[in-house]
Amino acid sequence: PFEQVELQAPDPILGVSEAFKASKEPNKLNLGVGAYRTEELKPYVLDVVRKAEKKIFEAKENKEYLPIEGLDAFRKATVDLLLGPSHPAIKEARVAALQSLSGTGSLRVGAGFISRFLKGRTVYISNPTWGNHRNIFGDEGVKWEYYRYYDPETVGLDFKGMMEDISAAPDGSIILLHGCAHNPTGIDPNPEQWSQIADLCIKKKHIPFFDVAYQGFATGSLDADAAAPRLFVDKGLEVMVSQSYSKNLGLYGERVGAMVMIVGSKDVAERVLSQLKRIARAMYSNPPTYGARIAAEIVNDADMFGEWKTEMAGMAGRINRVRGELRAALESKYPGKDWSFVTSQIGMFSFTGLSPAQVDNMTKKWHIYMTKDGRISLAGLNSAKVGYLADAMVDSFKN
Ligand code: LMR
Repeated sequence: PFEQVELQAPDPILGVSEAFKASKEPNKLNLGVGAYRTEELKPYVLDVVRKAEKKIFEAKENKEYLPIEGLDAFRKATVDLLLGPSHPAIKEARVAALQSLSGTGSLRVGAGFISRFLKGRTVYISNPTWGNHRNIFGDEGVKWEYYRYYDPETVGLDFKGMMEDISAAPDGSIILLHGCAHNPTGIDPNPEQWSQIADLCIKKKHIPFFDVAYQGFATGSLDADAAAPRLFVDKGLEVMVSQSYSKNLGLYGERVGAMVMIVGSKDVAERVLSQLKRIARAMYSNPPTYGARIAAEIVNDADMFGEWKTEMAGMAGRINRVRGELRAALESKYPGKDWSFVTSQIGMFSFTGLSPAQVDNMTKKWHIYMTKDGRISLAGLNSAKVGYLADAMVDSFKN
């Protein structure tokens, strides 16, 4: 029966890391996956994470199962991080929060919820978006469609197209939005535009579903980066949110995140959480303990929370610095082209506009590994490699 199984193509993002690993080229550079690297291009474990780990180790906690909904201290921390600890929705107990397996696992539980309780509704995702969104909703049998987002002419947001498509979607659709630092474009709506999107969701009775994977990486401030979901909640919308600590706490492999729903009442929140638990139980039973303890220690402790903010700003700052250096290098090597997009985009990525054939040139000739959509992760770049990358980009654009 297995003879008929066809070979699946490598994942468009994680497959790039596999190809990079296999390469023997000394100049190779991995700008594929969105994972933070130090100036030495090494993975980075935050000092505050090491500190929390020490505390956890010394507390000699057991390895019992967590409840299906996860660690209470973590769930509290995560909702505080999203809404701010004194938010009325928290006081009114109308937040259902389920610890889950980072962004993907949380989205998948959310997709499961949609397929059971919002049957027949379509999820609208931005064009382009993170490649895994399509898999996650598709694999749960949830229908998805694109809304316009990126305008290649202006290398900016197609706000008019986005509003038209969200407006044309049937009432009560689910609108997937990136909380901040849109992946892959690095282009976010401005505050006025966010406000208009929220008002349109209210008018259309749409359900906003925020994917919050880069909180802290847009502005360097955890609070400022939660402005969009907070605005929607403050306008009275009920929202679904997936949260990930992979990037901002550097807990990639620990799979730390949550599926959070801010709903109309305490009673609804209780019922919603009971169903999220039912979905998680069949999917993976209960979430892993270790990373959740780390996140909870840090967010729930004022000193460690402060240290995290400083380190977070440091990571965002390093990315911004290489962004500026890359733009300057490109401007000096190819002055005829407008490179301002490099610094107007935010977050971990730059969406370069390189075509698939040009990306091939980047990888085959220059051994720079990146995704086919033309995205590069600036978190994987350092000052020493800026000139090399700029040479490769200029060569690829010119050919
Ligand atoms: C990315 O977009 O590179 C990250 O979100 C990692 C992933 O899982 O794809």
